[in-house]
Amino acid sequence: MHQTIDTTNNFALHPTVFVILGITGDLASRKLLPALLALYSKKLLPQRFVIIGFSRRQFSREEFREFIRERINILPGQFKEEDIKHFLDHMLYEQGLFDDAVAYARLAQKIASVDKNWGQCSNKLFHLSVPPKLCEGILSHISQSGLNVPCSDDIGWTRILIEKPFGNDIHAARQIDKLLGKLFKEEQIFRIDHYLAKETLQNIVSFRFSNSMFEPIWQNEFIDKVHIKLFQKNSVEGRGAFYDSLGALRDVGQNHMLQMLALIAMNRPKSFTATDIRTERARVLKSLVPIVRRTLANRVVRSQYVGYLNEVGVKPDSKTETFVRIESYINMPRWKKVPFYLETGKAMSESKAEIDIYFKNKDGNEQNILTFRIQPNEGIKIRFFVKTPGKGFAVEPRTLKFKYSDTSLSEYMSNDYERLIRDAFVGDQTLFASTSEIMASWEYVTPILDNWDDLPLTTYPKGIKEIE
Ligand code: BG6
Repeated sequence: MHQTIDTTNNFALHPTVFVILGITGDLASRKLLPALLALYSKKLLPQRFVIIGFSRRQFSREEFREFIRERINILPGQFKEEDIKHFLDHMLYEQGLFDDAVAYARLAQKIASVDKNWGQCSNKLFHLSVPPKLCEGILSHISQSGLNVPCSDDIGWTRILIEKPFGNDIHAARQIDKLLGKLFKEEQIFRIDHYLAKETLQNIVSFRFSNSMFEPIWQNEFIDKVHIKLFQKNSVEGRGAFYDSLGALRDVGQNHMLQMLALIAMNRPKSFTATDIRTERARVLKSLVPIVRRTLANRVVRSQYVGYLNEVGVKPDSKTETFVRIESYINMPRWKKVPFYLETGKAMSESKAEIDIYFKNKDGNEQNILTFRIQPNEGIKIRFFVKTPGKGFAVEPRTLKFKYSDTSLSEYMSNDYERLIRDAFVGDQTLFASTSEIMASWEYVTPILDNWDDLPLTTYPKGIKEIE
């Protein structure tokens, strides 16, 4: 399998305005702005490039730049001071409330004056870095102020980037989707699930379909179970109010976790194009066996770390889960009776994302395990057995390991948000979630959420390694 995307395509050239709605939020400073700065310092952004931040806080232009400089999540010395300074020079600010039509009119004027200054119609990207409940209102305002209308589909395009979770449940997701469909063409909409842009997640596809020895055994006759883990050492500090309105299942279960499952379980796509890959991922998500009230208690565990209720922004009697485990099944012949365990938690002993595929062993308990390490220490390992030297045929486990960082490939590892931004620029939607994937994952998750209160909420101490 070989696929090349031409990221040199004129995106480095055409003037672009990148609008971040919700620029003072955690996501902008943690992921988005560092990625933009990295692209800037690698000279991968157009020469004429402006970022316009929009949020409700009052800042002068100088205060705004200082705020960004202080908040941007970069390591000391990671970027040249000169690059940081010039990058900040590309930033403008527009103050406004998300529900104030006048503020959007001002934003439209600001964008128009940038275009006027450049003497041409720029490309425009709108990034919604806001909680899902604000999406619809913002989209309507963008359209009412005419900002959704591109100069053309080609040069001078307008695109919209929407962060997960897309809606709060299937009903909200459908509503947002309907509105988006009215305001934009599908090619203009980029629904972000940044896990899809992680190199090691893409590597699952490459690994599976390029190494012919694995595909024949990728099925229930040989695979016993699949365990997908996304653990975070951090608690929810700094994002209490946002997180409390979501919980682990909405925050990462409905999106990152299910996308990892889809990549492991999907059939070989007809071709390695955005449409075919997204079709196969969606096919898996649509085939998930629903978890209904009767099966809920056997299949799902939800828990909350001790101390969560004292986090700033969290309701004192909150029942929001910070850990969830789901035993999922997929209604596809090759996955019949194979459990996929999805497990995610905050305030765990370490941060890691990995996928273990356990192979059946007809002769005993010793199982081969294939592990995709998503992060950190990105790579792949296989547990296998060798004879213990000496008499008899006793065996012991050993590991075959591949670590990106041990090889020159690590030089080319791209950061997830850098990749997403570049792909949005060139209009490649492969690493973005399609409507049918999002709807299918909400179809699966919404009944669980509807019956949430039937399930006991346990607690766990911070820093725990595993939860029973
Ligand atoms: C985000 C979630 O989408 O993904 C966070 O909102 C989570 O709660 C994060 O911590 C994990 O992403 P990464 O790239 O840090 O593993």
